Amino acid sequence: MSRRLVNEKILQEVEQKRSIFQIEAEKGKHFNFEEIYGNEQPVVLEIGIGRGEYLVGQSLLDWQHNYLGIEVNKERITYTLRQLQPRRHCNVRVLDLFVDDSLIEYIPAGSIRKVCIIHPDPWPKRRHNQRRLIQHKFLDVLYQILEERGVLEIQTDHAEYAQWILRHFAERSDFAPIRGGSTKIPRHGHIVTYFEEKKMREGNYPVYISYRKVEKQPETGSEDGLEETE
Ligand SMILES: C[S@@+](CC[C@H](N)C(=O)[O-])C[C@H]1O[C@@H](n2cnc3c(N)ncnc32)[C@H](O)[C@@H]1O
Repeated sequence: MSRRLVNEKILQEVEQKRSIFQIEAEKGKHFNFEEIYGNEQPVVLEIGIGRGEYLVGQSLLDWQHNYLGIEVNKERITYTLRQLQPRRHCNVRVLDLFVDDSLIEYIPAGSIRKVCIIHPDPWPKRRHNQRRLIQHKFLDVLYQILEERGVLEIQTDHAEYAQWILRHFAERSDFAPIRGGSTKIPRHGHIVTYFEEKKMREGNYPVYISYRKVEKQPETGSEDGLEETE
């Protein structure tokens, strides 16, 4: 087959996958997940899927949850679509979107069981810190879209960003740490992403941060009684 025909075939395949797996966001209109997935399974949201290793792999292992992966980079969306198989990944959808505080306009309140953010861009220069995804306003949004006791998992190899994230959680009473809040030990069955592997080869190992949505605590100045184990 000529190179041109091969490319045409790949394009056709991607477009077919797009019609099955990609959903569109309409400003001000909330997704109806039951309609989208055709079932009532809980939804896991991954923000910044990159090449899709976690989304594609974890959704297969964990077929009792529905998975929604959001990514702003179109090439990475295409890369991910190519790996999705209609018969095996019926619990997966992808969305091409720049995630910010407006997420609440698309995702219904209380509809997400777990949010995963794997190696978010660290924006290391101080003058760019305000571009970091993890800010109090964005945590307010995640709090709203999470179910009661929903989980937020963030993984980063950037030590200063890890401290920034933990500091933000320490300043809030509406998220409680799971397993002490952060660990360097991955869970059993952990899926290593492209970025994680790249960073580990450079000698930068990730921190795994996990918090759970809890009822806001009255302002007492005391931080005890929040820690949990899982
Ligand atoms: C450092 S990469 C990590 C990718 C992947 N999670 C991994 O571990 O290999 C960060 C990813 O998040 C995406 N991203 C960054 N900011 C985003 C935003 N506001 N909305 C959606 N995607 C975003 C980038 O395009 C990129 O693919």
